[in-house]
Amino acid sequence: MPDVELEVHLTDAERAEALRRDARRGLTATPKWLPPKYFYDARGSELFEEITRLPEYYPTRAEREILAERAGAIARITGAKTLVELGSGSSEKTRLLLDALREQGTLGSFAPLDVSGAALRDALGALRADYPDLHLHGIVADFVGHLEVLPEAGTRLVAFLGGTIGNFTPAERAPFLAALRARLAPGEWLLLGADLVKDPAVLVPAYDDAAGVTAEFNRNVLHVLNRELGADFDPRSFAHVALWDSHHEWIEMRLRALRPMTVHLQALALDVSFTEGEELRTEVSAKFRREGLTGELAAAGFAVRDWWTDHLDRFALTLATAV
Ligand code: SAH
Ligand code: TRP
Repeated sequence: MPDVELEVHLTDAERAEALRRDARRGLTATPKWLPPKYFYDARGSELFEEITRLPEYYPTRAEREILAERAGAIARITGAKTLVELGSGSSEKTRLLLDALREQGTLGSFAPLDVSGAALRDALGALRADYPDLHLHGIVADFVGHLEVLPEAGTRLVAFLGGTIGNFTPAERAPFLAALRARLAPGEWLLLGADLVKDPAVLVPAYDDAAGVTAEFNRNVLHVLNRELGADFDPRSFAHVALWDSHHEWIEMRLRALRPMTVHLQALALDVSFTEGEELRTEVSAKFRREGLTGELAAAGFAVRDWWTDHLDRFALTLATAV
């Protein structure tokens, strides 16, 4: 019988409390900003899946290409008994790893962790059918500050794919990597997917597609605030902005007010005013270079064993071991 568990470490009440705190802090700051994890309600996770299929959004295809080529080596090198995936979403590409580990006969369980309960439930439903012998252990949690929930059975391989590491600022990245390292024993593994610095003519369209899906995804955070905090944002009055910051080497996503507005957030008893053209920062997506990322991993206590890229050198998959 398939064996599926879903552990909820982030209750609706905790999530609502965090959203109230973060929205108040971000919307009363100058400039205004919001943390990216609130994009991912059920609709947001669906929109992200749509992004992964866009012609302009190359990271998913590039990472899948590397996984298809290297999954066998990853299974052989790590001999992992438990595969943990942080920010797992649909876990669609992860099947390449599951297949390779299963073929090798070492894998006992798969533990996908995501802040989006809806995405996780969908993913587990699909996996249950295709991996009947695998113990599936879904974890609804925030990977910032809650890594104590990682399961501890056998040699672990922690996959963190999709370039999600880039959605931290550099100041957030170091403590995240250190906290992850602290949960692992020496000899356990991290498989990290990172998007690479490249021509802005390729980067920008990946975050500003012709069909407007990314724009819809960006504005989804306003729908989340409307629903969860009784806010009255008019999402159509905000334009999607994606720009390349060549100093920080990140793509920055913003929402630009198309007219002056005052938005009321009932749950916060807060009024927030926007001037025409004012921008709200919703996301960064940092792009990496080999030396920089290897150095950050070393500083956190990980030694890079392998660095693999796709045939166009757009995206890198790094296999590192906890030292
Ligand atoms: N790994 C998938 C999905 C990437 S999108 C892929 O490569 O396609 C980023 C995922 O991380 C989403 O599923 C989102 O719900 C999740 N996520 C974002 N912030 C998170 C957080 N703080 N804690 C846990 N999951 C988070
Ligand atoms: N991890 C993804 C990335 O940085 C998330 C993402 C893709 C995203 N497109 C986006 C986040 C658009 C916000 C807006 O590529």
